[in-house]
Amino acid sequence: MQLASRVHDVADSITLAVSAKAKALKDSGVDVVGFGAGEPDFDTPDFIKDAAKAALDRGETKYTPSPCILALKKAICEKFKRDNGLTFEPAQVTTGAGGKQCLYLAFMAVINPGDEVILPSPYWVSYPEQIKLAGGKPVVVVGDEANDFKLTPEQLERAITPRTRGFVINSPSNPAGHAYTPAELLALAKVIARHPNVVVFADEIYEKLVYFGQKSVSFATLDPSLPERTLTFNCHSKTYAMTGWRLGYVGGPRPVIDAMNKLQSQISSHVTSFIQNPGALALTDPRGLESVEKMRVEFEQRGLHMWKRLCSMPHIKCVKPAGAFYCFPNVSAYFGKSVDGKKIADAISFSSILLDVAHVAVVPGNDSGFDTHVRLSFATSMTQIDKGLDRIEEFLERVAGS
Ligand SMILES: Cc1ncc(COP(=O)(O)O)c(C=O)c1O
Repeated sequence: MQLASRVHDVADSITLAVSAKAKALKDSGVDVVGFGAGEPDFDTPDFIKDAAKAALDRGETKYTPSPCILALKKAICEKFKRDNGLTFEPAQVTTGAGGKQCLYLAFMAVINPGDEVILPSPYWVSYPEQIKLAGGKPVVVVGDEANDFKLTPEQLERAITPRTRGFVINSPSNPAGHAYTPAELLALAKVIARHPNVVVFADEIYEKLVYFGQKSVSFATLDPSLPERTLTFNCHSKTYAMTGWRLGYVGGPRPVIDAMNKLQSQISSHVTSFIQNPGALALTDPRGLESVEKMRVEFEQRGLHMWKRLCSMPHIKCVKPAGAFYCFPNVSAYFGKSVDGKKIADAISFSSILLDVAHVAVVPGNDSGFDTHVRLSFATSMTQIDKGLDRIEEFLERVAGS
Protein backbone atom coordinates (compact mmCIF):
# COMPACT_ATOMS: atom_id res chain seq x y z
CA MET A 1 0.00 0.00 0.00
CA GLN A 2 1.42 3.35 -0.97
CA LEU A 3 1.07 5.88 1.82
CA ALA A 4 1.06 9.66 1.75
CA SER A 5 4.55 11.17 1.75
CA ARG A 6 3.80 13.15 4.90
CA VAL A 7 3.75 9.89 6.83
CA HIS A 8 7.28 9.05 5.70
CA ASP A 9 8.47 12.48 6.77
CA VAL A 10 7.39 11.86 10.35
CA ALA A 11 10.05 10.06 12.39
CA ASP A 12 9.32 6.73 14.02
CA SER A 13 9.40 7.15 17.75
CA ILE A 14 12.43 5.50 19.38
CA THR A 15 10.79 6.24 22.71
CA LEU A 16 7.77 4.12 21.79
CA ALA A 17 10.01 1.29 20.58
CA VAL A 18 11.89 1.23 23.91
CA SER A 19 8.61 1.44 25.88
CA ALA A 20 7.17 -1.44 23.85
CA LYS A 21 10.26 -3.55 24.60
CA ALA A 22 10.01 -2.73 28.33
CA LYS A 23 6.34 -3.66 28.33
CA ALA A 24 6.96 -6.96 26.55
CA LEU A 25 9.63 -7.82 29.13
CA LYS A 26 7.28 -6.91 31.98
CA ASP A 27 4.44 -8.94 30.47
CA SER A 28 6.76 -11.94 30.32
CA GLY A 29 7.13 -11.74 34.10
CA VAL A 30 10.40 -9.79 34.41
CA ASP A 31 10.55 -7.25 37.27
CA VAL A 32 11.29 -4.12 35.21
CA VAL A 33 11.84 -0.77 36.96
CA GLY A 34 10.25 1.85 34.73
CA PHE A 35 11.74 5.34 34.54
CA GLY A 36 10.16 5.91 31.15
CA ALA A 37 6.70 7.23 31.99
CA GLY A 38 6.00 10.87 31.28
CA GLU A 39 3.07 11.03 33.68
CA PRO A 40 2.47 11.49 37.40
CA ASP A 41 2.16 8.24 39.37
CA PHE A 42 -0.60 9.94 41.42
CA ASP A 43 -4.28 9.33 40.70
CA THR A 44 -6.63 12.07 39.47
CA PRO A 45 -8.02 13.81 42.59
CA ASP A 46 -11.35 12.36 43.78
CA PHE A 47 -13.27 15.63 43.46
CA ILE A 48 -12.52 15.69 39.72
CA LYS A 49 -13.39 12.03 39.25
CA ASP A 50 -16.63 12.53 41.20
CA ALA A 51 -17.49 15.48 38.95
CA ALA A 52 -17.04 13.27 35.89
CA LYS A 53 -19.29 10.57 37.37
CA ALA A 54 -21.91 13.24 38.10
CA ALA A 55 -21.58 14.60 34.56
CA LEU A 56 -22.24 11.13 33.16
CA ASP A 57 -25.21 10.69 35.48
CA ARG A 58 -26.59 14.05 34.31
CA GLY A 59 -26.40 12.75 30.76
CA GLU A 60 -23.57 14.96 29.53
CA THR A 61 -22.84 12.36 26.90
CA LYS A 62 -23.89 14.14 23.71
CA TYR A 63 -22.24 16.59 21.32
CA THR A 64 -21.32 19.93 22.83
CA PRO A 65 -20.57 23.17 21.03
CA SER A 66 -17.20 23.09 19.25
CA PRO A 67 -14.58 23.33 20.73
CA CYS A 68 -16.19 23.14 24.23
CA ILE A 69 -18.89 24.57 26.52
CA LEU A 70 -18.69 28.20 27.63
CA ALA A 71 -18.26 27.18 31.31
CA LEU A 72 -14.94 25.53 30.46
CA LYS A 73 -13.75 28.54 28.47
CA LYS A 74 -14.64 30.83 31.38
CA ALA A 75 -12.79 28.58 33.83
CA ILE A 76 -9.71 28.66 31.56
CA CYS A 77 -9.86 32.49 31.45
CA GLU A 78 -10.16 32.56 35.25
CA LYS A 79 -7.14 30.29 35.61
CA PHE A 80 -4.99 32.29 33.18
CA LYS A 81 -5.88 35.51 35.03
CA ARG A 82 -5.33 34.10 38.53
CA ASP A 83 -2.15 32.10 37.95
CA ASN A 84 -0.51 33.77 34.98
CA GLY A 85 -1.67 37.38 34.94
CA LEU A 86 -3.00 36.86 31.41
CA THR A 87 -6.31 38.46 30.45
CA PHE A 88 -8.38 36.61 27.85
CA GLU A 89 -11.97 36.78 26.65
CA PRO A 90 -13.61 33.33 26.35
CA ALA A 91 -13.25 33.66 22.56
CA GLN A 92 -9.48 33.87 22.99
CA VAL A 93 -9.11 30.42 24.52
CA THR A 94 -9.71 26.98 23.12
CA THR A 95 -9.32 23.34 24.04
CA GLY A 96 -8.05 20.14 22.50
CA ALA A 97 -7.38 16.50 23.27
CA GLY A 98 -4.39 17.20 25.50
CA GLY A 99 -1.69 19.81 25.23
CA LYS A 100 -0.41 17.79 22.28
CA GLN A 101 -3.46 18.39 20.09
CA CYS A 102 -3.56 22.07 21.04
CA LEU A 103 0.06 22.44 19.90
CA TYR A 104 -0.64 20.59 16.67
CA LEU A 105 -3.68 22.73 15.85
CA ALA A 106 -1.68 25.87 16.60
CA PHE A 107 1.20 24.89 14.30
CA MET A 108 -1.35 24.02 11.61
CA ALA A 109 -3.05 27.38 12.07
CA VAL A 110 0.11 29.52 11.98
CA ILE A 111 2.85 27.82 9.98
CA ASN A 112 3.07 27.94 6.19
CA PRO A 113 5.22 25.59 4.08
CA GLY A 114 8.86 26.62 4.37
CA ASP A 115 8.39 28.74 7.50
CA GLU A 116 11.15 28.32 10.06
CA VAL A 117 10.33 27.54 13.67
CA ILE A 118 13.08 27.93 16.25
CA LEU A 119 13.23 24.93 18.52
CA PRO A 120 15.64 24.85 21.48
CA SER A 121 17.02 21.40 22.17
CA PRO A 122 16.73 19.11 24.02
CA TYR A 123 13.07 19.30 23.05
CA TRP A 124 9.88 17.40 23.66
CA VAL A 125 9.64 14.69 21.01
CA SER A 126 6.50 15.85 19.19
CA TYR A 127 7.49 19.45 18.40
CA PRO A 128 9.65 18.78 15.33
CA GLU A 129 7.24 16.23 13.90
CA GLN A 130 4.23 18.50 14.38
CA ILE A 131 6.10 21.45 12.85
CA LYS A 132 7.02 19.28 9.85
CA LEU A 133 3.41 18.08 9.49
CA ALA A 134 2.41 21.73 9.24
CA GLY A 135 4.97 22.14 6.45
CA GLY A 136 7.40 24.10 8.62
CA LYS A 137 11.12 23.68 9.12
CA PRO A 138 12.31 23.11 12.69
CA VAL A 139 15.47 25.15 13.29
CA VAL A 140 17.07 23.34 16.20
CA VAL A 141 19.26 25.43 18.51
CA VAL A 142 21.29 23.23 20.82
CA GLY A 143 21.32 24.17 24.49
CA ASP A 144 24.68 24.13 26.26
CA GLU A 145 24.80 21.58 29.07
CA ALA A 146 27.01 23.96 31.07
CA ASN A 147 24.08 26.41 30.93
CA ASP A 148 21.58 23.73 32.04
CA PHE A 149 20.68 23.36 28.32
CA LYS A 150 18.98 26.76 28.38
CA LEU A 151 18.87 28.86 25.25
CA THR A 152 20.71 32.17 25.57
CA PRO A 153 19.45 35.46 24.08
CA GLU A 154 22.51 35.51 21.80
CA GLN A 155 21.70 32.04 20.46
CA LEU A 156 18.09 33.07 19.87
CA GLU A 157 19.08 36.28 18.06
CA ARG A 158 21.51 34.38 15.82
CA ALA A 159 18.87 31.80 14.87
CA ILE A 160 16.28 34.35 13.70
CA THR A 161 16.12 34.90 9.93
CA PRO A 162 13.58 36.63 7.65
CA ARG A 163 11.91 33.22 7.30
CA THR A 164 11.41 32.72 11.05
CA ARG A 165 7.72 32.45 11.83
CA GLY A 166 7.71 30.68 15.18
CA PHE A 167 9.64 30.21 18.41
CA VAL A 168 8.92 27.33 20.79
CA ILE A 169 9.72 27.90 24.44
CA ASN A 170 9.07 25.08 26.91
CA SER A 171 9.71 25.88 30.55
CA PRO A 172 9.84 23.85 32.75
CA SER A 173 11.23 21.47 30.21
CA ASN A 174 10.68 17.91 29.17
CA PRO A 175 13.24 16.30 28.94
CA ALA A 176 15.94 18.72 30.18
CA GLY A 177 14.33 19.21 33.61
CA HIS A 178 15.34 22.85 33.63
CA ALA A 179 13.12 25.82 34.40
CA TYR A 180 14.12 29.25 33.11
CA THR A 181 14.27 31.97 35.75
CA PRO A 182 12.04 35.00 35.14
CA ALA A 183 15.18 37.03 34.29
CA GLU A 184 16.31 34.46 31.71
CA LEU A 185 12.88 34.43 30.09
CA LEU A 186 12.80 38.22 30.08
CA ALA A 187 16.10 38.31 28.19
CA LEU A 188 14.63 35.98 25.53
CA ALA A 189 11.42 38.04 25.40
CA LYS A 190 13.47 41.17 24.67
CA VAL A 191 14.95 39.46 21.62
CA ILE A 192 11.52 38.31 20.40
CA ALA A 193 10.16 41.85 20.95
CA ARG A 194 12.57 43.05 18.24
CA HIS A 195 11.09 40.60 15.70
CA PRO A 196 7.38 41.34 15.31
CA ASN A 197 6.73 38.54 12.79
CA VAL A 198 7.66 35.79 15.20
CA VAL A 199 4.78 33.92 16.86
CA VAL A 200 5.65 32.41 20.24
CA PHE A 201 4.48 28.94 21.19
CA ALA A 202 4.87 29.00 24.99
CA ASP A 203 4.43 25.49 26.35
CA GLU A 204 3.87 26.00 30.07
CA ILE A 205 2.25 22.68 30.89
CA TYR A 206 4.69 21.94 33.73
CA GLU A 207 4.37 25.44 35.24
CA LYS A 208 3.20 24.16 38.64
CA LEU A 209 6.05 21.68 38.99
CA VAL A 210 8.97 23.93 39.87
CA TYR A 211 11.40 23.32 42.70
CA PHE A 212 13.75 24.95 45.19
CA GLY A 213 11.80 28.21 45.43
CA GLN A 214 11.82 28.94 41.72
CA LYS A 215 8.84 30.82 40.27
CA SER A 216 7.06 30.21 36.97
CA VAL A 217 6.32 33.22 34.82
CA SER A 218 4.27 33.29 31.63
CA PHE A 219 6.24 34.34 28.56
CA ALA A 220 3.36 36.45 27.20
CA THR A 221 3.57 38.78 30.21
CA LEU A 222 7.18 39.77 29.57
CA ASP A 223 6.75 42.41 26.88
CA PRO A 224 3.74 44.52 25.85
CA SER A 225 4.12 43.30 22.24
CA LEU A 226 3.82 39.63 23.18
CA PRO A 227 0.13 39.02 24.03
CA GLU A 228 -0.94 39.62 20.44
CA ARG A 229 1.49 36.98 19.09
CA THR A 230 1.97 34.48 21.89
CA LEU A 231 0.04 31.26 22.36
CA THR A 232 0.18 29.97 25.92
CA PHE A 233 -0.35 26.23 26.22
CA ASN A 234 -1.42 24.31 29.28
CA CYS A 235 -3.24 21.09 30.08
CA HIS A 236 -4.77 19.05 32.85
CA SER A 237 -2.49 16.09 32.14
CA LYS A 238 0.45 16.80 34.42
CA THR A 239 -1.11 19.37 36.79
CA TYR A 240 -3.99 17.20 37.95
CA ALA A 241 -2.63 13.76 37.02
CA MET A 242 -5.18 13.52 34.20
CA THR A 243 -3.01 12.29 31.32
CA GLY A 244 -5.60 9.80 30.07
CA TRP A 245 -8.46 12.29 30.09
CA ARG A 246 -6.94 14.16 27.14
CA LEU A 247 -7.71 17.75 28.01
CA GLY A 248 -5.50 20.64 27.02
CA TYR A 249 -6.09 24.34 26.50
CA VAL A 250 -4.50 27.41 25.03
CA GLY A 251 -4.96 31.15 25.21
CA GLY A 252 -3.85 33.61 22.56
CA PRO A 253 -4.76 36.10 19.87
CA ARG A 254 -8.29 35.77 18.54
CA PRO A 255 -7.37 35.17 14.85
CA VAL A 256 -5.23 32.15 15.74
CA ILE A 257 -7.81 30.76 18.18
CA ASP A 258 -10.55 31.19 15.55
CA ALA A 259 -8.39 29.38 13.00
CA MET A 260 -7.70 26.54 15.46
CA ASN A 261 -11.43 26.24 16.17
CA LYS A 262 -12.13 26.08 12.45
CA LEU A 263 -9.67 23.20 12.09
CA GLN A 264 -10.96 21.52 15.25
CA SER A 265 -14.55 21.70 14.04
CA GLN A 266 -13.60 19.57 11.03
CA ILE A 267 -11.27 17.23 12.88
CA SER A 268 -12.83 16.12 16.16
CA SER A 269 -15.54 18.75 16.86
CA HIS A 270 -14.76 19.10 20.56
CA VAL A 271 -13.16 17.51 23.59
CA THR A 272 -15.13 14.70 25.27
CA SER A 273 -18.42 16.01 26.65
CA PHE A 274 -18.37 14.63 30.18
CA ILE A 275 -14.82 15.82 30.97
CA GLN A 276 -15.64 19.45 30.23
CA ASN A 277 -17.41 20.42 33.46
CA PRO A 278 -14.95 18.41 35.61
CA GLY A 279 -12.14 20.09 33.65
CA ALA A 280 -13.59 23.49 34.54
CA LEU A 281 -13.92 22.50 38.19
CA ALA A 282 -10.30 21.33 38.35
CA LEU A 283 -9.19 24.80 37.25
CA THR A 284 -11.40 26.81 39.62
CA ASP A 285 -11.79 24.70 42.79
CA PRO A 286 -9.09 25.37 45.41
CA ARG A 287 -8.65 21.60 45.79
CA GLY A 288 -7.06 21.61 42.33
CA LEU A 289 -4.15 23.76 43.43
CA GLU A 290 -3.88 21.87 46.74
CA SER A 291 -3.54 18.53 44.96
CA VAL A 292 -0.82 19.73 42.59
CA GLU A 293 1.10 21.28 45.49
CA LYS A 294 1.14 17.88 47.24
CA MET A 295 2.57 16.29 44.10
CA ARG A 296 5.07 19.12 43.69
CA VAL A 297 6.48 18.67 47.20
CA GLU A 298 6.83 14.94 46.62
CA PHE A 299 8.46 15.35 43.19
CA GLU A 300 10.90 17.90 44.58
CA GLN A 301 12.22 15.36 47.12
CA ARG A 302 12.32 12.53 44.61
CA GLY A 303 14.03 14.64 41.95
CA LEU A 304 16.70 15.84 44.36
CA HIS A 305 17.31 12.29 45.56
CA MET A 306 17.54 10.86 42.04
CA TRP A 307 19.83 13.67 40.88
CA LYS A 308 22.19 13.28 43.87
CA ARG A 309 22.45 9.55 43.33
CA LEU A 310 23.03 9.93 39.59
CA CYS A 311 25.76 12.52 40.18
CA SER A 312 27.50 10.16 42.60
CA MET A 313 27.87 7.54 39.86
CA PRO A 314 31.24 7.49 38.06
CA HIS A 315 31.40 9.58 34.85
CA ILE A 316 27.71 10.59 34.97
CA LYS A 317 26.94 14.28 34.53
CA CYS A 318 23.45 15.52 35.20
CA VAL A 319 21.76 18.92 35.32
CA LYS A 320 19.87 19.44 38.59
CA PRO A 321 16.14 19.18 37.84
CA ALA A 322 14.50 22.52 38.62
CA GLY A 323 11.11 21.67 37.11
CA ALA A 324 8.92 18.97 35.51
CA PHE A 325 9.82 15.43 36.65
CA TYR A 326 12.85 14.33 34.67
CA CYS A 327 16.58 13.85 35.14
CA PHE A 328 18.53 13.95 31.88
CA PRO A 329 22.00 12.51 32.58
CA ASN A 330 24.85 12.44 30.09
CA VAL A 331 25.92 8.80 29.70
CA SER A 332 28.34 9.27 26.81
CA ALA A 333 31.38 8.34 28.95
CA TYR A 334 30.19 4.74 28.63
CA PHE A 335 30.02 4.74 24.83
CA GLY A 336 32.43 2.35 23.14
CA LYS A 337 32.32 -0.07 26.08
CA SER A 338 30.62 -3.47 26.10
CA VAL A 339 28.67 -5.60 28.52
CA ASP A 340 27.78 -9.27 27.94
CA GLY A 341 29.29 -8.90 24.46
CA LYS A 342 26.92 -6.05 23.58
CA LYS A 343 28.50 -2.77 22.57
CA ILE A 344 27.17 0.56 23.81
CA ALA A 345 27.38 2.97 20.88
CA ASP A 346 24.88 5.70 21.75
CA ALA A 347 21.91 6.51 23.98
CA ILE A 348 19.68 4.04 22.13
CA SER A 349 21.99 1.06 22.63
CA PHE A 350 22.73 2.23 26.19
CA SER A 351 18.99 2.17 26.98
CA SER A 352 18.38 -1.09 25.20
CA ILE A 353 21.30 -2.91 26.90
CA LEU A 354 20.39 -1.42 30.29
CA LEU A 355 16.91 -2.85 29.84
CA ASP A 356 18.19 -6.27 28.76
CA VAL A 357 20.89 -6.59 31.40
CA ALA A 358 19.60 -4.62 34.41
CA HIS A 359 15.87 -4.48 33.68
CA VAL A 360 15.61 -0.72 34.00
CA ALA A 361 13.66 1.27 31.40
CA VAL A 362 14.93 4.75 30.51
CA VAL A 363 14.24 6.88 27.43
CA PRO A 364 17.13 7.57 25.02
CA GLY A 365 17.56 11.27 24.29
CA ASN A 366 17.70 10.75 20.51
CA ASP A 367 14.05 11.74 19.96
CA SER A 368 14.85 14.95 21.85
CA GLY A 369 17.88 15.80 19.73
CA PHE A 370 20.50 14.38 22.13
CA ASP A 371 22.07 10.99 21.42
CA THR A 372 24.40 11.31 24.41
CA HIS A 373 21.75 11.49 27.15
CA VAL A 374 18.92 9.42 28.57
CA ARG A 375 15.78 10.60 30.35
CA LEU A 376 14.68 9.18 33.69
CA SER A 377 11.29 10.14 35.07
CA PHE A 378 11.04 10.51 38.84
CA ALA A 379 7.26 10.30 38.74
CA THR A 380 7.52 6.97 40.52
CA SER A 381 7.86 5.94 44.17
CA MET A 382 11.05 6.47 46.18
CA THR A 383 11.32 2.68 46.59
CA GLN A 384 11.24 2.17 42.82
CA ILE A 385 13.70 5.05 42.34
CA ASP A 386 16.21 3.46 44.71
CA LYS A 387 15.71 0.00 43.27
CA GLY A 388 16.25 1.27 39.71
CA LEU A 389 19.25 3.39 40.65
CA ASP A 390 20.87 0.46 42.53
CA ARG A 391 20.56 -1.54 39.33
CA ILE A 392 21.96 1.28 37.17
CA GLU A 393 24.90 1.63 39.56
CA GLU A 394 25.70 -2.09 39.32
CA PHE A 395 25.25 -1.97 35.55
CA LEU A 396 27.70 0.92 35.19
CA GLU A 397 30.25 -0.90 37.37
CA ARG A 398 30.01 -3.90 35.08
CA VAL A 399 30.34 -1.72 31.99
CA ALA A 400 33.35 0.12 33.46
CA GLY A 401 35.02 -3.16 34.44
CA SER A 402 34.43 -4.84 31.07
C1 LIG B 1 6.56 19.51 27.05
C2 LIG B 1 5.28 18.81 26.75
N1 LIG B 1 4.35 19.46 26.03
C3 LIG B 1 3.17 18.88 25.73
C4 LIG B 1 2.88 17.60 26.15
C5 LIG B 1 1.54 17.00 25.79
O1 LIG B 1 0.72 16.87 26.90
P1 LIG B 1 -0.65 16.11 26.83
O2 LIG B 1 -0.45 14.78 27.46
O3 LIG B 1 -1.62 16.98 27.57
O4 LIG B 1 -1.03 15.98 25.40
C6 LIG B 1 3.82 16.87 26.89
C7 LIG B 1 3.55 15.50 27.31
O5 LIG B 1 4.39 14.76 27.73
C8 LIG B 1 5.05 17.52 27.21
O6 LIG B 1 5.98 16.89 27.94
